[in-house]
Amino acid sequence: MRILVTGKTGQLVQSLQERGPAFGAEIVALGRPEFDLADAGRIQDLLSAARPDLIVSAAAYTAVDKAESEPELAFAVNAEGPRALSIAAAALGVPVIQISTDYVFDGSKTEPWTEADAPAPASVYGASKLAGEQAVLAVSPRNVVVRVGWVYSPFGGNFAKTILRLAGERDVLRVVADQVGGPSSALDIADGVLTMARNVLSQPERDDLRGLFHMGAGGEATWAEFAGEICDWLGARTGRTIVVEKITTADYPTKARRPANSRLDSNRLENVHGFRMPPWRNSVAPVLQRLV
Ligand SMILES: NC(=O)c1ccc[n+]([C@@H]2O[C@H](COP(=O)([O-])OP(=O)(O)OC[C@H]3O[C@@H](n4cnc5c(N)ncnc54)[C@H](OP(=O)(O)O)[C@@H]3O)[C@@H](O)[C@H]2O)c1
Repeated sequence: MRILVTGKTGQLVQSLQERGPAFGAEIVALGRPEFDLADAGRIQDLLSAARPDLIVSAAAYTAVDKAESEPELAFAVNAEGPRALSIAAAALGVPVIQISTDYVFDGSKTEPWTEADAPAPASVYGASKLAGEQAVLAVSPRNVVVRVGWVYSPFGGNFAKTILRLAGERDVLRVVADQVGGPSSALDIADGVLTMARNVLSQPERDDLRGLFHMGAGGEATWAEFAGEICDWLGARTGRTIVVEKITTADYPTKARRPANSRLDSNRLENVHGFRMPPWRNSVAPVLQRLV
């Protein structure tokens, strides 16, 4: 499998590069400056030159709060970019796996979100990613959209890295406890995406492998519980006690509104593609080990 992934420095692209060989996949990363999603004009030429079997559209404008004041750029990168990419891919007969987000939902449901639930983004970022999903599936219903959430990894900036740094500086951390989701290692997501890629390429006749899927980590956590797991791990190594004080979303105002419930029901993914993410706690220590 020759898989082209958009972005070079992102958490998921680096995870795909690490996990690719175990799946017999050659990962070709295409990113800035030569490949800019905001400059859709050059995409066709770059894709033709790369000759992939499949494309993972992982690059995105991911600055959730900044997007509130840069909606044009967020939509250009997250919606128009994937649209242009899909059109170029369709011309080459290459399927696209578009990575999307739990932030397409407003968080109002109490149960985990299924693929049948109506999205209603509460932020510019969420709206731009939803427009990207719709564009990719409109270009070809044989493309794939995978929604993930709460991503952390040994690479790039993420919540686990921030908590680890803050826990090294302070004994008490105040963390939001009224948002619930599934902390997801990008390395686990990479395993899932590579499984889907292998299925799509080896069974092209199966329409059920295409379309929309949720890929949430096993179990659930609040940000405070996720931070607690990280602090406990660090405490066990250092002998220190780091306390996580629970606060509410209202205590920690941000420009963008985030869903209170980000849990993704991933049964369809397991039933159709035979992949389930591991319980979230299992993946934390191996990532922290690499971050310290
Ligand atoms: N992080 C999360 O918690 C989370 C949650 C749900 C869904 N997702 C989705 O998962 C996917 C992967 O996220 P991630 O955490 O790996 O992202 P990330 O670490 O923030 O990396 C984003 C990547 O996108 C690239 N990029 C940004 N603007 C670009 C542009 N105009 N043209 C080309 N490349 C551009 C960046 O390249 P530069 O190095 O050039 O900036 C970087 O490689 C994204 O689609 C994201 O929306 C993420």
